[in-house]
Amino acid sequence: MLHRPRRNRKSPAIRNLVRETSLSAKDFIYPLFVHEAEENVAIESMPGCTRWSLAGLVKEAGEAHALGVPAVVIFPAVPEEKKNSTADECYNPNGLVPRAIQALKQAHPTLCVITDVALDPYNSDGHDGIVRPNRNDELEIINDETVAVLCKQAICHAHAGADIVSPSDMMDGRVEALRTALDDAGYQDVSILSYSAKYASAYYGPFRGALDSAPKAGDKKTYQMDYANVREAVREVILDEEEGADMVMVKPAGAYLDIISKVRETTSLPVAAYQVSGEYLMIKSAADAGWLDEKAIVLESLFAIKRAGADLILTYFAKQVAQWEIDGEF
Ligand code: PBG
Repeated sequence: MLHRPRRNRKSPAIRNLVRETSLSAKDFIYPLFVHEAEENVAIESMPGCTRWSLAGLVKEAGEAHALGVPAVVIFPAVPEEKKNSTADECYNPNGLVPRAIQALKQAHPTLCVITDVALDPYNSDGHDGIVRPNRNDELEIINDETVAVLCKQAICHAHAGADIVSPSDMMDGRVEALRTALDDAGYQDVSILSYSAKYASAYYGPFRGALDSAPKAGDKKTYQMDYANVREAVREVILDEEEGADMVMVKPAGAYLDIISKVRETTSLPVAAYQVSGEYLMIKSAADAGWLDEKAIVLESLFAIKRAGADLILTYFAKQVAQWEIDGEF
């Protein structure tokens, strides 16, 4: 026999030498939830995740950073009484997110702070954009008006010290509008990580539970993408690159590895992938029930996302995996 591929698998040392993909805490962006309350509250729909107080957020981010995680992205839970149909709270300079950015940057100057740019946590309709009934009395998400609000939101985050703003709303033209607005306001150095290929996905369910941000009516299919499509993702990525995005994202990750791989071939920009709340919950609940080996499944799922072509991964497991890395577990 001339070919015995098993020779390259015969010992841990050789397997390490021929390993094609690596995973490290350095690849991770850690999503964290914050609310106004003084207590940290466990999130029922995402076991192991927490809605942090400001102080709790700073502590958790600091612990993850000390383990080697370079970046966090923050998601606010906004009380119902601060929501309205134009999501005005999203650019309140004294709002929860600007205060969280300031507290994080002050406590951890080397931590990269990323913010989500979209209206859903602040919008009484629960959509990422402004909602209005059209002539036929159907709900419509108004693109250009929404983009104008997103620009105010991004400038508010930049002013508070965000390193990267990350539009997750899927409105058309928002990357160019954000780039122009940020530059005009003097924030040329604030980066844009665009959720370029964000699918209308049932995997976001637990997240919407975490923030009480589910749409009050309708679904997100007129702005998020149809999961049957791949060329459309390529188109969105090309547009975002032309519009000035610094990094692009595919979301969700695990069920969209083909999209990640395609996007990797399409662009020279860094590609991020978001292992979303439903992916987290499926692993976590099976592991908590004793049906799957949590560490093995988490590592396999994250390696697969890297292997498909992602440079960066947003994952709720970031801190846990960083600890495993330090402990020499993989
Ligand atoms: C909202 C937003 C969502 C997520 C990140 N930003 C939910 C949605 O689009 O409905 C989902 C993240 C997750 O499920 O972990 N703009």
